Amino acid sequence: MSLTIIDHPLARHVLTLLRDKATPPSVFRVLCHQVTLLLVIEATRGLGERALAIETPMERHTGSELVEPLAIVPILRAGLGMVQPIVDLFPSAAVGYIGLERDHDTAIARSYYCKLPSVDDKHVLLVDPMLATGGSAVRAIDIVMERNPRKLSLLSIVSAPEGVAAVSEKYPDLPIFTVGLDRELNARKYILPGLGDFGDRLYGT
Ligand code: PRP
Ligand code: URA
Repeated sequence: MSLTIIDHPLARHVLTLLRDKATPPSVFRVLCHQVTLLLVIEATRGLGERALAIETPMERHTGSELVEPLAIVPILRAGLGMVQPIVDLFPSAAVGYIGLERDHDTAIARSYYCKLPSVDDKHVLLVDPMLATGGSAVRAIDIVMERNPRKLSLLSIVSAPEGVAAVSEKYPDLPIFTVGLDRELNARKYILPGLGDFGDRLYGT
C-alpha cells in the first residue's frame, strides 16, 4: 500500500470546515479549491525536472524546469471541483473526464462518460474527493490503466479504510494521497465522520 495522508495544519483546518454541515456551497467550493492545492503539491513532490540555464538581471543562473507532462482526470461530477486548482498550478496539464455515478441503493458505480487524452507519456492525477467503497476509483483506475499511463496517482480529500484497501488490493503500488483517513462506512456506504455527499454539497443539489 502507498498511502500518504497530508500532514499540514491548514489541510486539517480546511477539512474540518468542509465537514461542517453549516458550510454553504459558496464557501465549500473555496475550501475544496484550497485543500486541493495542498493535496496536489504533495502528490507532485517527485515530479521530474531538469536544469535550465537562464540569465537573471544580475548574472547567469542554472535553475530548473518541469519535464513531466501531467494529465488531470476528475471522476465526475464531484471531481470537477478539484480540476481548477490543479490547472492553476500546472497550466499545461491535459484534462480528461471519467463519468461514474453510484447507485443510491447498491453503491455500485455506473459509467456514463469517458473522454481521455493520450496518457502513455503522462503522469495521470486521478482526482475524486471521496474514496468510500473504492468501487468508483478502481473502475476509473482500470479505465486509465488500459491506456498505459507513464504513472498514475489517486488524489482524494476524504478516504475510508475500505476504499483504500480496495484500491491497494488491486493496485498495491499505486500512490494514494488523501487529507483525511476516516473511521468507516455506514450501512449506506457513506463515510463516517465524512462530510456527506460531496457533489451535493459542492453544487447545492
Ligand atoms: C461519489 C464520489 C465518488 C464516489 C465514491 O460520487 O464523488 O466518485 O461517490 O464512492 P465509492 O468509493 O463507494 O465508489 P457519486 O457516485 O455520488 O456521484 P457524483 O460525483 O455525481 O455526486
Ligand atoms: N460519496 C460521497 O460523496 N460521500 C460519501 O460519504 C461516500 C460517497
